[in-house]
Amino acid sequence: MVIATINGVDHTVDADPDMPLLWAIRDLVGLTGTKFGCGVAQCGACTVHVDGMPVRSCQTAIGDVVGKSVTTVEGIKGRVAETLQAVWADLDVPQCGYCQSGQIMAATALLTTNRKPSDDDIDAAMAGNLCRCATYQRIRAGVHEAAKRLEA
Ligand code: FES
Ligand code: FES
Repeated sequence: MVIATINGVDHTVDADPDMPLLWAIRDLVGLTGTKFGCGVAQCGACTVHVDGMPVRSCQTAIGDVVGKSVTTVEGIKGRVAETLQAVWADLDVPQCGYCQSGQIMAATALLTTNRKPSDDDIDAAMAGNLCRCATYQRIRAGVHEAAKRLEA
């Protein structure tokens, strides 16, 4: 048994401490917004925040987040995340949508630490989040637009 705090709620999950956090989030806790893409830390679809930092939940053991705060796309809150989500809808950023929860988690982490990112900053922060639909230009535009709205 492992106790994991996910989106502010303590979950006692029947899991080996080595189980990938992604498995626990999706299969044991039932939060399916976080996606499985590659399983080897190469695509970013599984991005969640652990104590506010973006991590690949496919390569993070659930035992390693005990005592920490895990946030998934279902639980992300605050002005930055809400602004990004509004912009994503307004600019029609997603295509198939599969990668987009990971994109939102990465973009939220970026704008939380850098309120005025350059194109290079955005590309560097989002480089680990792949999009098979190649929405990269809209993602970049979305981050800039969110930065502008957050300044207002
Ligand atoms: S599923 Fe975790 S990085 Fe691809
Ligand atoms: S929107 Fe389809 S994979 Fe990114």
